[in-house]
Amino acid sequence: MTWDVRPTKDLEEFKGAVGAISHYFGGGPDDERAERFARVLPLERMHAAFDGDAVVGGAGAFPFQLTVPGGVVPCGGVTVVGVLPTHRRRGILTAMMRTQLEDIRDRGESIAALWASEEVIYGRFGYGMASIAGEVALPSGYAGLRQPPDETARSRLISLDEAKAILPAIYDRVRATTPGMFDRTEAWWELRNLSDPPERRQGGGEKNVLLLELGGQPAGYALYRVFSKFEFGSAAGHVEVIEALGDGAVATRELWRVVLDMDWLATLKAFLLPIDHPLLQQLRYPRRLQMRIGDGLWVRLVDVGAALSARSYSGEGAVVFEVEDAFLPENTGRWKIVGGKAERTDETADLALDVRELGAAYLGGFTFGELLRAGTVRELKDGGAARADALFLTSSPKPWCPEIF
Ligand SMILES: CC(C)(COP(=O)(O)OP(=O)(O)OC[C@H]1O[C@@H](n2cnc3c(N)ncnc32)[C@H](O)[C@@H]1OP(=O)(O)O)[C@@H](O)C(=O)NCCC(=O)NCCS
Repeated sequence: MTWDVRPTKDLEEFKGAVGAISHYFGGGPDDERAERFARVLPLERMHAAFDGDAVVGGAGAFPFQLTVPGGVVPCGGVTVVGVLPTHRRRGILTAMMRTQLEDIRDRGESIAALWASEEVIYGRFGYGMASIAGEVALPSGYAGLRQPPDETARSRLISLDEAKAILPAIYDRVRATTPGMFDRTEAWWELRNLSDPPERRQGGGEKNVLLLELGGQPAGYALYRVFSKFEFGSAAGHVEVIEALGDGAVATRELWRVVLDMDWLATLKAFLLPIDHPLLQQLRYPRRLQMRIGDGLWVRLVDVGAALSARSYSGEGAVVFEVEDAFLPENTGRWKIVGGKAERTDETADLALDVRELGAAYLGGFTFGELLRAGTVRELKDGGAARADALFLTSSPKPWCPEIF
C-alpha cells in the first residue's frame, strides 16, 4: 500500500501530525502548545501521513546549521516522528522517511541528524550512530578537582530572563568548535532551554541558571535542578545538570566545581556528556564517576557528494569509498575524496561501506579503523581504513550534542 505523505498546510494538520508521537507521551498538543512549537518547527517542515482525511503519522525536521569538523553544514534535525498505534508496521514510517529525506536533500541540507527513541529504528534509513552520550553520577564526597580554583572565577545565579541575553553568546563560542552542536534561534532559547513549565520538572525543583565569569566576563553556565530528599535524617537528594557549557578548560573546571559540590545533596547527575569530557581529567577521583554510555546523535549523509565536500580533512591524501545506499540509491557508487572535495570516480576503492557507516565517521565520533575492527566496513585495498583515518583526522573534540531535540 502507498501512503499519502506531505507537509502540513495549517495548524490543524500540524497538531494532528505532532499528535502521533504525543499519543505515546499521553496526549496531543492543544492549540496553544502547537502554536508555540510551530515557532521552532515551521509547518512546511512537518510532514503528515494520511489515511483518507485522517492524519495517522508525522515526522518533522528542524532547519539546523550543524557544526562538523572544520565547518558548519545545513542539516535536517529530524524530530517528533510517530505513527499512531492503529497504523503501526504498515510502512508509514518508511514512506515518511523517504519523503522527508528527499525534502531535506531538495532544500540543500546535505545531512540529517536525530536522536532515536529506540536504536533499532533508523539504521535501515541510512542513519549511523555518530556520537556517544554518557549519563553520569558522582557521589558528593568525591567532588574534588585536581587543580586549585582560578582566582578570577566568580559565579552567580541569574534568572531565566537574564539568561536570554547572556547564554547564547557562550553557547555559540562552544558550538563553533564542537561537532554535533546546532544553532539555536531566539525562539529556541526562549521556548526550549530557558522555559520551565511545571509539567517538565518531573519531581524536581525549578530550573536554575548559574553563570560563571572569569575576570568579570561570562565564560560558562550551568542549567540545573535540585531534587531534594532526606533519608534517616541525612541528605539523599541529587542535583541534575541539564546543560553545562564552559568556554575553555578553566571555565569548564570552575563551572563544575560549583555544581559538583553543593550542600544537602548526595549525588550529582548529568546526561548526554561526551566520553572525552574534560571533567574526566579534572576530577581527583575519576573512578568514582559512574558513567553509562549509549548512542547519542545519529547522522545520515543525504547527499553524499555535498556532505563529504562540506567538512574538512587533514593532509594531502586521497581515499576512494564504494558506497552502498539502498534507501537513497542516487548516493550509491564510488566516491573519491581529494583536495577536500568528494567526486564520483571509476578508480578502485579503498573501502566498501554502507552509507550509515559514513554517517558514523562523519563527525569524528568513530574511526574507520574502529569500524573495520567491528566488521561494518570492508577493506578493498590494504591500508584503506588507515588512509581514510589519516584524511578524516581532526583536532576537534568528540562530537557532542548537549540537547535531545
Ligand atoms: C517507531 C514508529 C514510528 C514506527 O512506525 P511504523 O509505521 O510502524 O514503521 P514501518 O511500518 O515503516 O516499519 C519499517 C520497518 O522498521 C521496523 N520497525 C519500526 N519500528 C520499530 C521498532 N520500534 N522496533 C523494531 N523495529 C521497528 C518494522 O518492523 C519494519 O521492518 P521490516 O521492513 O523489516 O518489516 C512507530 O512504531 C511509533 O510511532 N513508535 C512510538 C514513537 C517513536 O518511537 N517514534 C520515534 C521517535 S525517534
